[in-house]
Amino acid sequence: MGVFDGMLGANESLFRNAVALDFDFVPKLVPYREGEQFHIAGCIKPLFSQRSGRNLLIHGPPGVGKSVASRHVLRELQEKADDIFPLYVNCWQKNTSFKVALELCEQLGYRLTHNKNTDDLLAVVMEKLNKGGAVLVLDEVDKLQDQDFLYVLLERLYRKVIVLISNYQEWGASLDERLRSRLALDVLQFRPYSAEETRGILRQRAELAFQPDVFPREALERVVAETVQRGDLRVGLHLLKEAGAAAEEKAARSVSLEHVETALQRLAQFAPRKSAELDEDEQAVLELVKGAPGSKIGDLYKRYQESGGEMAYKSFQRKVKKLEDGGYIDVQRTQGGAEGNTSILTHRGVKTLDQF
Ligand SMILES: Nc1ncnc2c1ncn2[C@@H]1O[C@H](COP(=O)(O)OP(=O)(O)OP(=O)(O)O)[C@@H](O)[C@H]1O
Ligand SMILES: [Mg+2]
Repeated sequence: MGVFDGMLGANESLFRNAVALDFDFVPKLVPYREGEQFHIAGCIKPLFSQRSGRNLLIHGPPGVGKSVASRHVLRELQEKADDIFPLYVNCWQKNTSFKVALELCEQLGYRLTHNKNTDDLLAVVMEKLNKGGAVLVLDEVDKLQDQDFLYVLLERLYRKVIVLISNYQEWGASLDERLRSRLALDVLQFRPYSAEETRGILRQRAELAFQPDVFPREALERVVAETVQRGDLRVGLHLLKEAGAAAEEKAARSVSLEHVETALQRLAQFAPRKSAELDEDEQAVLELVKGAPGSKIGDLYKRYQESGGEMAYKSFQRKVKKLEDGGYIDVQRTQGGAEGNTSILTHRGVKTLDQF
C-alpha cells in the first residue's frame, strides 16, 4: 500500500454543504421550537382575515434559536400568502431610522432612494405595505439608536405585526410610554436547549453539512457536551466546522476526537461576540465578576466603589440583571442564612462567538 492510500485526495472534501453550518443558514426544519413558531404564527394570523395582528417581544439568551425560528416563520409566510409582506431587519447592522427605512425600501424592491430622507423613504415603504399586510421582524432591536420610524409605522400601517427580538426582556419596559402603549407587546421567552435538543439540532446540521459517516458519534458527543456547557448553539456549529477543517488538514477520511480537540483549542482564542454590545459600565461589572467568581453582589459592589466606580447600588443591580439575562453570568439567589438574602455571581465563560 502506498503512503498516500487511505488519505483524502486533494480535490475531495469531507463537506457536502458547508453552508449548512453558517450561523444565518435557515434549515428546512427548526426542531424544538414548534411551540414558539406557533405562538409567532398566532400573532400573525389575524392578518389573513384582513385585521391587524398582535405585536410581539421575543427574548432569551444568545444562541437559543430566536432569530432562526422567526426567520423560518417568515419563510413559511412568504410561501402561504401573496398579500402579506415578510420583512426582517437586523438592527445591529441597521441601527438608525434612516438605515432601517433604506433597508425596507431595498427589501421592497424600491431603488430610487438616492437623496431621500427618512420621511421620504418611510412614505414609500408605507405606500407599498398598505397594499396588503406586513410582518416586520426587528432583530437585536435594543441596538437601535432611535426608534422614530417605529412611531411612524405603528401610526400609519393598517394591517401589521411587529416582532421585536432582544436578549433582554426589560428592554420592552424601557421604551417610552407612548411607544409602549401603541405596541401593546405580547411576550415570548425562548429558553436554553436541553442536552438532548442540542444533540438533535447539531446532528441535523452535521448530516446536512458533511458527507455520510464523516462525523462519528463520539466526536459529535464531544461537541454536544461543550455546546451544552456554554449554552449557545453557535459554539456547536463552529466546532463542527472547525473539526471538519482540522480533519481535512490532516487528509483524514473522517473526523476524530483529536480533530474536535484541535477545534476546541482554536475556540479558546475567540472573544465573546456580544461583549461589543455591552456598555462600559456593564463591561466593568462583567470584569469584576470574572475576577472574583462566586462573590456576593454586595462585596462586588464594594470592590467596584473601591476601584473608583460611581454607579449607585440600584444601577449596579440593574447591570447585573442585564448580564444575567444576556447569559454572561449566572446569579444564584440565596435566602435566609446568616447574612439574609443575597445573590452569588459567577461568570459563564464564552457565550457567543464572533463571525469567523
Ligand atoms: N432549533 C434549531 N434548529 C436548527 N438550528 C438551530 C436551532 N436553534 C438554533 N439553531 C442555530 O443555532 C444558531 C444560533 O441560533 P440563533 O441565531 O437563532 O440564536 P439567537 O437566539 O437569535 O441568538 P442571539 O440572541 O445571540 O442573536 C443559528 O445558526 C441557528 O441556525
Ligand atoms: Mg439572533
